[in-house]
Amino acid sequence: MGGCLWLHTLLWSLTASSIPLIPRSLDDLSTQLLQSKWEMNGNRLCKLCDATSTSCNGEHGCDSKCMVTTSCEYPEEVCAAIWRKNNGTITIETRCHDPKLELYGHKLDDFNSDRCVMKKKESPGETLYMCSCLEEECNSQLLFSDVTDTHHTVSQERTLHKPSTGEISTKQSMPDGRIILHALCKFCDEEQTTCRTETECKSNCTITSICEKPGEVCAAIWRKNDANITLETICHDPRLELYGHMLYDYNSSKCVMREKKMIGETIYMCSCKEEECNNVIFFTEETETNIDWKNDFPKVVLISLLPPIGIAIAVIFSFYCYRVHRKNKISKKWEKDTKCTRHPNMDCSDACAIMMDDDRSDISSTCANNLNHNTELLPIELDILVGKGRFAEVYKAKLKQNTSEQFETVAVKIFPYEEYASWKMEKDIFSDINLKHENVLQFLTAEERKTDVGKQYWLITAFHCNGNLQEYLAKHIISWEDLWKLGGSLSRGVAHLHSDHTPCGRPKTPIVHRDLKSSNILVKNDLTCCLCDFGLSIWLDPSLSVDDLANSGQVGTARYMAPEVLESRINLENVESFKQTDVYSMALVLWEITSRCNAIGDVKDYEPPFGTKVREHPCVESMKDNVLRDRGRPEISNSWLSHQGIQLVCETITECWDHDPEARLTSQCVAERFNEMEHLDRLSERSCSEEKIPEDCSEDTTI
Ligand code: ADE
Repeated sequence: MGGCLWLHTLLWSLTASSIPLIPRSLDDLSTQLLQSKWEMNGNRLCKLCDATSTSCNGEHGCDSKCMVTTSCEYPEEVCAAIWRKNNGTITIETRCHDPKLELYGHKLDDFNSDRCVMKKKESPGETLYMCSCLEEECNSQLLFSDVTDTHHTVSQERTLHKPSTGEISTKQSMPDGRIILHALCKFCDEEQTTCRTETECKSNCTITSICEKPGEVCAAIWRKNDANITLETICHDPRLELYGHMLYDYNSSKCVMREKKMIGETIYMCSCKEEECNNVIFFTEETETNIDWKNDFPKVVLISLLPPIGIAIAVIFSFYCYRVHRKNKISKKWEKDTKCTRHPNMDCSDACAIMMDDDRSDISSTCANNLNHNTELLPIELDILVGKGRFAEVYKAKLKQNTSEQFETVAVKIFPYEEYASWKMEKDIFSDINLKHENVLQFLTAEERKTDVGKQYWLITAFHCNGNLQEYLAKHIISWEDLWKLGGSLSRGVAHLHSDHTPCGRPKTPIVHRDLKSSNILVKNDLTCCLCDFGLSIWLDPSLSVDDLANSGQVGTARYMAPEVLESRINLENVESFKQTDVYSMALVLWEITSRCNAIGDVKDYEPPFGTKVREHPCVESMKDNVLRDRGRPEISNSWLSHQGIQLVCETITECWDHDPEARLTSQCVAERFNEMEHLDRLSERSCSEEKIPEDCSEDTTI
């Protein structure tokens, strides 16, 4: 039955057109088969509208806009369309037409086409295009081409109008003279294929089609599901989705397959621009994810935001860790520093050789003055007031440890807002890395704090439970050994300040204290001294001019002022003069220490130098009378000289408070002398060995 119909169709074709009788190619044959398929279904359905005015100028494929579909009267009739341009008016007419008959004086030979491809017809006084086709309502959409009144099938058109280069498609002359390109592509329904993804395959599609719309490209779709493997070749507008996917490779000359993620089946697609390029397909390993922008948008946004969010979290976390680590480091370093001490006779490395201090773990100023550049305020809880000076108050305080109830005891020197300059000066001196010394108060950090009572400036240092030397001497009678330790450490501290190099040999700018006195010296647990209160200190920078030095003024505490300071006659030409004033003050402190040593015989109650001769806070004039006019110095009674060590100390003291600054010993020399005195105790008649055990201030140690 099918064979009969096929034969009938073939015969009909022979009579109805001038197509060669014998199909010239497989393409021809398939077209004829297509035709027969249609004729099996009876009369054709076509658009049927009279000539109606249109805006379609032929640039794009036009829609006839005809709303009427008719079943053609005779089975041999095909669908036809007529486009005219006359005096600027454009009309489209759609209808059924028997291709054996002329239409407006023209034979329509293209009726075997499945689409209505417009051909220009000669018609004086107007522009006339006509087309005919077989598919149902195929005269609804009109395609324009430059083919003028030529009889051909779709595949013939390719043959007849093949572009000279490999360039895409067939030219289409527009009624207004422009040329539009239409692609020539393989165009078959989904067909079974033996093609596998690891190979390159030919489509086996025998139909080549002029793509309907300009801009369309060739495409191929390879699918594999449980049932079979198919290949479909089509024309496709790449601006549109194809089975839910956009094809981005349409500029390619080859159809290179890319897998698209689909649930339940494997699908590969490709697109390309060369003529019939979808005839051969190539497989690659690239896989594209099927992104349904509408539904997957939140997912896509989330996924794309994950890396930056991840990075941001990592950065914040690292920063947090860094801050915690830094805080710990400060506390740990502090802990370590406060447990170490530099042995006076040890070789020193740059980092300062450290040893464990006495087994009572109080905080002692040791090998390093720290400078904390951390902007975060330390977790400090103020405890009791332990000292009140000219510019600031000193508190005992708790430096909390991160994790537990543990804390370190520290000293906090609080300057009120108005004393910024003093705080700044002392902070700057403390920040001098070369100041670090076991006989200089260990500095932790400086802070600016906003409190209820206004802005304050803090200096945080080691805390020494023995308090200052004046307080200590007032409360304690000391042994020769204590004297030797206190005096020796004091002189080493001053020598370090004055020195132009560190114990490690690094160059350093000498510093003068300018306010040395027993209340500015702290007593550490091992009964060594450390210097504090650097508010009046200056660097003896070689670049300082005489004017700079002169402007630094008469400073210090009158009771401890050297004669040349009292009369403001310091030799500004020589920076050593400033050191000499410190040496004078140090001599008075050494006298104070000696005055409380039981090696001198009867030890009187503590008295400051020039004790009862002057008021508690003598003025400069009163001190001038004593020190300059009367050349007065604290008394060294003969009884003191019976101890060999004390005798040497007293000689040293006398040389240090000489009226002539130049005649005074240097602080380095004093330190050396103390070093040499180490064993004088044993040689002495009177031993101080019955001395008390140094007090432990364990209440202040770390809990
Ligand atoms: N008085 C002044 N500074 C002190 C400190 N750091 N420790 C103990 N008492 C002090």
